[in-house]
Amino acid sequence: MFLFNNTGLLLPVPEITRTVFIKTYGCQMNVYDSDRMADVLGVHGYESVRRAEEADVVILNTCHIREKAAEKVYSELGRLSRLKEAKRRDGRRMAIGVSGCVAQAEGHEIVRRAPVVDMVFGPQTYHRLGQLLDKVWLSDDGCGAGFVDTSFPEESKFNYLPRRGTASGRGGAGEGRLALPRRSSTFLTIQEGCNKFCSFCVVPYTRGAEESRAVTPILEEAMALLETGVCEITLLGQNVNAWRGAGPDGEKWGLGRLIQCMAQLPELKRLRYTTSHPQDMNASLIEAHRDVPQLMPYLHLPVQSGSDKVLAAMNRRHSADDYRRVVDDIRRVRPDMALSSDFIVGFPGETAADFEETLKLVSDIGYAQAYSFRYSPRPGTPAAQRDDQVPEAEKAERLARLQELLSIQKRAFNQSCLGMTISVLFDRNGKHTNQIAGRSPWLQTVHVTASDTLVGSIAEVIIEEAYENSLRGRLTSSDHVGGCRPAP
Ligand code: SAH
Ligand code: SF4
Ligand code: F3S
Repeated sequence: MFLFNNTGLLLPVPEITRTVFIKTYGCQMNVYDSDRMADVLGVHGYESVRRAEEADVVILNTCHIREKAAEKVYSELGRLSRLKEAKRRDGRRMAIGVSGCVAQAEGHEIVRRAPVVDMVFGPQTYHRLGQLLDKVWLSDDGCGAGFVDTSFPEESKFNYLPRRGTASGRGGAGEGRLALPRRSSTFLTIQEGCNKFCSFCVVPYTRGAEESRAVTPILEEAMALLETGVCEITLLGQNVNAWRGAGPDGEKWGLGRLIQCMAQLPELKRLRYTTSHPQDMNASLIEAHRDVPQLMPYLHLPVQSGSDKVLAAMNRRHSADDYRRVVDDIRRVRPDMALSSDFIVGFPGETAADFEETLKLVSDIGYAQAYSFRYSPRPGTPAAQRDDQVPEAEKAERLARLQELLSIQKRAFNQSCLGMTISVLFDRNGKHTNQIAGRSPWLQTVHVTASDTLVGSIAEVIIEEAYENSLRGRLTSSDHVGGCRPAP
């Protein structure tokens, strides 16, 4: 059997010599990155497994966005250190790696706090992972080798990553090489990093400056994914709608044009993108929502706050009314657009009146769903240094009120689907026997009673019940309208 590298070169499949388990925290970009690390390691002869106990290498792909997220890593490292010690007593060696945004932000500090760690490596170094591990294996089997690579290399990692799907794994649909469970929906990173520097946020420091991939490698990656049976792609970027990539015609393309182009790929049934910044929602992207039927009517457009004073202090570069106008423009071309957002409550200096403006904005927009967080001061960010921090009890009370309103809106949105016939992309088995689950165009989870041979297909479903977090329905008929792959 052979594998392709990123230049299309055929490489013999390496002998499997070791196993790796990657645990992912944080955002979708980390999910994507974990897949790509598995691809890199696949080329180096590592097989992906589902449990740390079975693995020679355990990698924690971490998130630094809020204090809680970062602290989870240290408690997991405590558990892993006991596992490593137990394996050592059995004469087996286990390497522990920390990647992602905590790795980038804390670097050597991780090895100091947790000497059991063998390697710490930042998000821009994943293409060098095979070599890093070779160094670990060559080092003495001490407490941890402690190699740290958090550089921002000149060369883009994307030029060196192997072709998508080169990971090999155990479990899922059949055992053996290249038998990772097949997916119908997946992520594709087109843009990474952020130049916006919102005053609360670590991402510009952990992911670096904005980088847009060029059109050709994006299309190549999309086609490779479609060949594996994927039929829904979510384009990813920390600021995905700020993407401006070099086109094959020598021009700089924007996201609207990329979407129009990708919609020509016949096997691609559904397209999404996330996360967007309100400032970069330009006319061509809004037109894509009007013109491209594959582009799903769901948009995650974080606003953070409804108060202009707070938005300015956050360095968000838009007012609450700018946001309302963008939403109006989108709903004019796509009236059924479901909106989602992120909110931060208790940002330094946020008064009760500022918070009321957030509630007002939520009432005006009407969200299908949203994420909301208490402000968490992050080291090195400007807002953390402010001396007008909001007391935790105040933050908790505001968060509870906001979440109550958001959950009323979510239930109302789900209930508006009752009686509708909608297309669902089934991507997994449900919790109960004979139940399968999938996603509506508006990203709601939909359960139906049906055979799991339909997993991987798109089918029409009549919605009969609506809950806060999901819908239940029945298939209109046994034939599905289109799919990622024919049901076996
Ligand atoms: N790039 C995206 C979001 C990245 S982080 C954007 O621009 O919107 C995801 C969300 O985490 C943010 O939208 C914000 O709501 C939240 N977040 C970021 N930093 C935070 C902090 N210090 N405290 C609480 N929430 C935070
Ligand atoms: Fe963070 Fe703001 Fe950049 Fe989003 S736009 S990643 S919130 S700095
Ligand atoms: Fe977390 Fe880094 Fe994503 S901080 S949210 S994993 S970009």
